[in-house]
Amino acid sequence: MSLAVAEMRAAFPAFAEAGGAGLHYLDNAAMTQMAAAAMAAVEHHSRSARANVRRGLYALAERADAAYDAARARVAAFLGAADPAEVVFTANATAALNLAAQALGAELGPGDEVVVSRLEHHSNLLPWLLLGRTRGVTVRTLPLTPEGGIDTGALAATIGPRCRVIALSHASNVTGAVLDPAPVVAAARRVGARVVLDGAQAAAHLPLDVRGLGVDFYAFSGHKVFGPTGIGVLWGRQSVLAGLPPPWAGGGMVEEVAGESLVFAPPPQRFEAGTPPVEQAVGLAAALDWLTAQDRLALTAHQRRLTAQLLDGLAARPGVRLVGPPTAAGRVPVVSFGLDGLHPHDVCQVLAECGVAVRGGSHCAQPLLAALELDGVVRASFAPYNDEDDVAALLDGLDAARRLLG
Ligand code: ALA
Repeated sequence: MSLAVAEMRAAFPAFAEAGGAGLHYLDNAAMTQMAAAAMAAVEHHSRSARANVRRGLYALAERADAAYDAARARVAAFLGAADPAEVVFTANATAALNLAAQALGAELGPGDEVVVSRLEHHSNLLPWLLLGRTRGVTVRTLPLTPEGGIDTGALAATIGPRCRVIALSHASNVTGAVLDPAPVVAAARRVGARVVLDGAQAAAHLPLDVRGLGVDFYAFSGHKVFGPTGIGVLWGRQSVLAGLPPPWAGGGMVEEVAGESLVFAPPPQRFEAGTPPVEQAVGLAAALDWLTAQDRLALTAHQRRLTAQLLDGLAARPGVRLVGPPTAAGRVPVVSFGLDGLHPHDVCQVLAECGVAVRGGSHCAQPLLAALELDGVVRASFAPYNDEDDVAALLDGLDAARRLLG
């Protein structure tokens, strides 16, 4: 079944206003374009329900509360969560992962271990390394498979009895490799560790069911799922969240403070000190509504075809070093590659001049790039509004870069 890409693009104003037909936007792993429905929801909320939440008793504030609560319920449904109270709104996935690390880290000390992998984005690496500095926690690392995935075969050798947290990417932002969380969850349960999944690259592409996955925390960002910037989500299992202290404090997160005695509000308020990103949450909910109203299987098949087309085109060119799984299966639609003798930033510059938007460099995953023995890679990443012309423009641009740069 072929996807109606023209209809898809009509749902994204950027294609009419920011670049039109000449825009080959292939940097969706960094930020997707924003759905018109999400823009409209943000505007409607700002016009009709703008007031602070959880504080006012007037009609406008009640409308704001209702919109914020509805957004939380929408995100909970998208994730397959048991209860909207398991959804904590944050600024982005980075903030969500830092929140998980700080809250879980409060219980950890010297001798406790956290397991990450070699392919983590810095967002799911540095918060845990900081716990090493501040709390003496040991961070252990799962190696890579030859296809650029996380080697879950090494779990038994990496996880010790003092392992308290396993924090991994559901899908890599560089290789695109998708993790099967099942063996990770099983290994974690054997030692009583918590499992944190960084879903920043997975949320737009994989059907999510956090209860079925069996993990304890799941993080993702609004700007990678066709929603606004400034909004992220940390989902946490209720029984786990309820036992964790808030890493930061302020208005709206206590039930009672008297002298030095504090009674924290239950989750999620406990973790949302200060004025939350209300209109961003409303926009995120509308973006998820748009996404879930699509034929998700058709979106996946379409993006997989584009990924396969790009992989074939790269394979036909000399001097290309592809990283990640050799086929479109087993990866989200993210394709990274090195070009012998060419710096990724120079290649991206030539591509930009050809109207092709991609990202080049180490992609906030320096340990992964070091393991691959590459200084940087060019990365193309697809969304449902991309088509074969985008792939052709990228491949033509790479040929131009090779001619121009040697
Ligand atoms: N994390 C985003 C990326 O991989 C910004 O590009």
